[in-house]
Formats: sequence, structure tokens, C-alpha cells
Amino acid sequence: VLCWFYIFPVYRVPSDKEIVEEVLRQRGVWHKNQTGIELYRKLLTDCCNPRRMFAVTKENSPLGKVLWYDGEFYYSHTVNNETYPLFVQGNPLKFPLKKCAVVGNSGILRRSKCGRHIDQADFIMRCNLPPLSKDYVADVGNRTHLVTANPSIIEKRFQNLLWSRKAFVDSMKVYGPSYIYMPAFSMKPCTDLSLRAHYALADSASNLTMLFANPEFLSSVSKFWKAHSVHARRLSTGLYLISLALGLCEEVTAYGFWPFSVGLDEQPVSHHYYDNILPYKWFHAMPEEFVQLWQLHKSGTLRMRVGQCP
Ligand code: CDP
Repeated sequence: VLCWFYIFPVYRVPSDKEIVEEVLRQRGVWHKNQTGIELYRKLLTDCCNPRRMFAVTKENSPLGKVLWYDGEFYYSHTVNNETYPLFVQGNPLKFPLKKCAVVGNSGILRRSKCGRHIDQADFIMRCNLPPLSKDYVADVGNRTHLVTANPSIIEKRFQNLLWSRKAFVDSMKVYGPSYIYMPAFSMKPCTDLSLRAHYALADSASNLTMLFANPEFLSSVSKFWKAHSVHARRLSTGLYLISLALGLCEEVTAYGFWPFSVGLDEQPVSHHYYDNILPYKWFHAMPEEFVQLWQLHKSGTLRMRVGQCP
């Protein structure tokens, strides 16, 4: 029995209370660690090659290439004459990306006054088409360079884009001329919804650029975190973006990552800064992800903003 314990030590995710206490103890000090940043960039480049692979491009996905879905077993799409023209030529991002801000959607952002900080970054990534209306600007900012869109939003908020596309196209204007990043080849229903979103934007001469997330990149990032004790059916969108940022940016600050219902001041925190709809319980493992991100914060590799911004 003892031997088994040494081979497979029992790993326990700390309780929410323990995590909050730990964050309170460590919160004040943050020192950038250039060696840690470079090490992580190398690890992520070796495993996942984000520069070349984060989006489906004409370069990495030529006609006839088989894209295996990362969220389905044994389901694939072979790049054909319909899909190939929709891909960007190569990685469109302009390097180097200096200061990047990755904005999660946690309710911890409310009354954080982090908007100005976020907007000062050189490259700003947001998750799941979040609201940026004037009620939220002081806390979350309003500049965006890349925003993810989960196809389920297209389904629920925009009726699968089967009727009017105007509401969708209009609501996208708040993200300016940014990239919209959709997991078109992750699960079967995602493909049609993502292609429809692409056509809706293209037909309206929108200044957003559609990027389809490369399923090979998503599955390599998922394997990377599995090896770092994150066991979830699927990583959260925010962790994919932080991984992308750690691989591409010189400095990364994360805002709005706090998957706990109580804040550092022991006051309740809503799940999102704009609502309190909880995710399906067994799908993500956000507290486990947070523990890993907090380790990176402590080592100076990534900066996590969890309280008010000065
Ligand atoms: O689609 P998903 O459920 O992953 O994301 P979301 O609820 O739209 O939030 C965007 C991201 O913010 C998540 O993927 C998490 O990484 C992060 N988040 C968090 O850390 N704590 C929360 N209470 C809510 C979201």
C-alpha cells in the first residue's frame, strides 16, 4: 500500500477557503521573472507551437488536410473547396506582442476599476463575446484585439443565425477591428455555426477577421495542462487564451480569473461580471486551473490581478 502511495501520491485540490487564504497571503508582491517567462514560452512552443498552429490557416491546413476534432472521438473534417477559402493565409498577428492582457469573465471584475489598466495593454484578449457596455467599461475596459466566440452563444443569443443576422453583426461592432476566434472544428455542431458566423460578418463587410481555432493546437494545449494536473473534460476558454498569450507575448497579465463564490473581502462574487449563470458542473475544472495559474503568478511568469487595480 505504501509503495502505491509513493508512485501515485494522492493529489487534493485545495478547498476554496484554502485558496482564498493563500491568495491573501501572497497578493501584495509580484516580481517579474524573465527566466520563468522564457522557460514557459519554450515549453509552450515545444508542445503546441502557438505561432504557427493557434488558428487554422491556409499554410497549416492545405486542401485535403484532415482536421481531427478535439472535442469528439473519431470525427474529422477534410479541408475542401468550400472551407479552404475561408482560412487566413498564415498567422496574422504582428510580432512581437509586448504586454498582453487576458480578460476572464469572473464577477471579481466588478468594482475592480481595472478598465484603464486592461486598455493600456498592447494586445487584449477576451472570452465569449462579453458585454463591454458603458456600465462595465471602468472595470473591464473597452479595447479588444482578439475575442473568442463559443458557438453555443450563436445558437442561444442569435437563434443559430438562421433568421436575421443584423443583431449579430451589430453586436460585434463593440469589438472594433479585432479577431474573432471560434472553435469551428472542436465539436460537430460548432462547424456550421462558425461558418455561418463567418459568412454573416463577411457579407456585411465587417472589419472583424474570423480565425478558426486549430483543433490540433487546442488538443496539444489540453495535453500540456493534463500533464500539469488539470483534469477537466474540457479546459476553460480562459486557460486556452492564457496558454496562447504565454506562448506569444513578452508579458502577460490576467484579469477576471476567480472561479470562487466568495471574494478576498469575504463578500459574495458572481460567476460572471455580467450575470451569475454557473457552468455545467463537471465540464470545466476552473479551481484546478486557478491553482496552476496562481503558481505561475507566484513564480513571476504571469501576473494575476485578483483585487482592485490601483
Ligand atoms: O466558456 P467558459 O465557461 O470557459 O467561460 P466564461 O464563463 O465565458 O468565462 C471566460 C473565462 O474566464 C473562463 O473560461 C475562465 O477561464 C475564466 N473565469 C474564471 O476564472 N472565473 C469565473 N468565475 C468565470 C470565468
